[in-house]
Amino acid sequence: MRTFIYPGSFDPFTKGHADIARRAALLCDRLIVAVMTNKSKSPAFSTEDRVWMATECLKNVPGVSVSAFGGLLVNFYKENGATAVVRGLRSESDFRFEAELAAANKLLYPSFEMLLLPCRSDLTFTSSSIVREVATYGGDITNMVPDEIRSFVAEHLRRTVEGEENHA
Ligand code: COA
Repeated sequence: MRTFIYPGSFDPFTKGHADIARRAALLCDRLIVAVMTNKSKSPAFSTEDRVWMATECLKNVPGVSVSAFGGLLVNFYKENGATAVVRGLRSESDFRFEAELAAANKLLYPSFEMLLLPCRSDLTFTSSSIVREVATYGGDITNMVPDEIRSFVAEHLRRTVEGEENHA
């Protein structure tokens, strides 16, 4: 049984994330999309919303489940009997970060493996923070966010910015 884990903040889930998850699911028996709950990033979306977004976008992909996780990735990896972590690679700068992540995790757990999947070229510059920025100012996020969650993401970010303006 090959169990892969696809971890991230997914704040929010994007078309880039959906593409990596779909392709990774074809390479294993079970893919767990792991939504990180660590507070270090102060996410714009709650853990529940981030789990819901990933679940909604991947509901038709066989062998995929979505879970929240906190603490160290290696612990989640061991608890789930994983064979590899999957991450998307958009650019050279991603590679540097991912190589450090892989090395640190391997020091913590020598059986740890990481697979890097190159991103689709049209999604190379998509990121959650770009989606947040564009949606906050009412821009069109159609090409960045899966259809299933597009209106939810746009509405949530619009309401967040309105709330901030009302408190200013
Ligand atoms: N498509 C679109 N965007 C992508 C992407 C893709 N395929 N791949 C990465 N990104 C973007 C994300 O949208 C995010 O963008 P943002 O910074 O603009 O919001 C950015 O790349 C990185 O986010 P993410 O992939 O969510 O990584 P992360 O840095 O938030 O988290 C973990 C990476 C979860 C793997 C890592 O932090 C972790 O393992 N944390 C647990 C604690 C731990 O064990 N630490 C390691 C100790 S060695």
